[in-house]
Amino acid sequence: MTGYNVAVVGATGAVGTRMIEMLEQSTLPLAQVKLLASARSAGQTRNFKGDELVIEELVPESFEGVDIALFSAGGGISKKFAPEAVKRGAVVVDNTSAFRMDKDVPLVVPEVNADALKDHQGIIANPNCSTIQMMVALEPIRQAAGLKRIIVSTYQAVSGAGAKAMEELRRESAAYLAGTPVDELNPEILPAGGDKKHYPIAFNALPQIDVFAEDNYTYEEWKMINETRKIMADDTIKIAATCVRIPVFAGHSESVYIETEDVIDVAAVKALLAKAPGVVLEDDPSQQSYPQALNAVGKKETFVGRLRRDLDVENGLHMWVVSDNLLKGAAWNSVQIAETLHAMDLVRVN
Ligand code: A2P
Repeated sequence: MTGYNVAVVGATGAVGTRMIEMLEQSTLPLAQVKLLASARSAGQTRNFKGDELVIEELVPESFEGVDIALFSAGGGISKKFAPEAVKRGAVVVDNTSAFRMDKDVPLVVPEVNADALKDHQGIIANPNCSTIQMMVALEPIRQAAGLKRIIVSTYQAVSGAGAKAMEELRRESAAYLAGTPVDELNPEILPAGGDKKHYPIAFNALPQIDVFAEDNYTYEEWKMINETRKIMADDTIKIAATCVRIPVFAGHSESVYIETEDVIDVAAVKALLAKAPGVVLEDDPSQQSYPQALNAVGKKETFVGRLRRDLDVENGLHMWVVSDNLLKGAAWNSVQIAETLHAMDLVRVN
């Protein structure tokens, strides 16, 4: 074969921009790359491996001749255009939450459940960023000792809410440092673009990501709960999440507490994680060595450290899990899914 025609939908966005970079670094055989965004961006150019590619306006016909379409332009765009892409013979890897919980749509973290790709019917969903990194860290432990319960608190970067949220953090931080009072920072996006009230993110911590849903958990928290059970194919895992936005541009951090089926000692968990795919173990308290958001930025791996036994629960473990939310949490996981589809011969070529 000569290579795939790949489309990036949302090519100007926080994730789309990184998808282009990940494609540049990918081993996926490429024939042509097509960059799609709204009419506002049509005509702009982006560099791809030395060529200037012109951004085109997304229309249904954009997908003629496309083999793989990577979507990250919001759920509404995916709902409308992913079926158009599939109709024209493309495989869609969708980074939004539009199809994640659909029965017929595999929800995939390649290190954990690549086999689920075999059942795809044209659309594959990329999980929520905070879920992906937690899955990469927990799957090796689950395989060795089983997993009964997860309690996670996240410390999430603003880039997870898109380029405009990053701009909001920049603007508010500059204004605050220049002496603007907090009540004059005029937040417009965070904590959730679609909610009624907005609060400053600069120098703050907001315990709301996405809007509130059932039982006073937010949608982001429900995503972590439901997606974990789907990816691990286990509805019995007990899981609760508290998702918090913090004033960091990139890199999500998570405090994760788990209870395993079998008691497993910390040294054994460290040995497992040291050789687990996609994981970097960074855990040496004597050297103050532990994962940090700033160090994870630009890397594809998930960093795990601060491993400790719970002081009261025999099968309880604590850890700190960090990854670049725009890469493993989004763009890299999507491109990695495309690479895995290729390796498993599951891309339908027109
Ligand atoms: P555009 O820049 O032309 O608006 P982010 O997640 O960083 O906010 O990025 C959203 C991405 O989705 C951008 O690339 C944006 O393109 C794209 N997008 C938004 N609305 C549309 C639309 N109606 N058609 C195609 N792409 C869209």
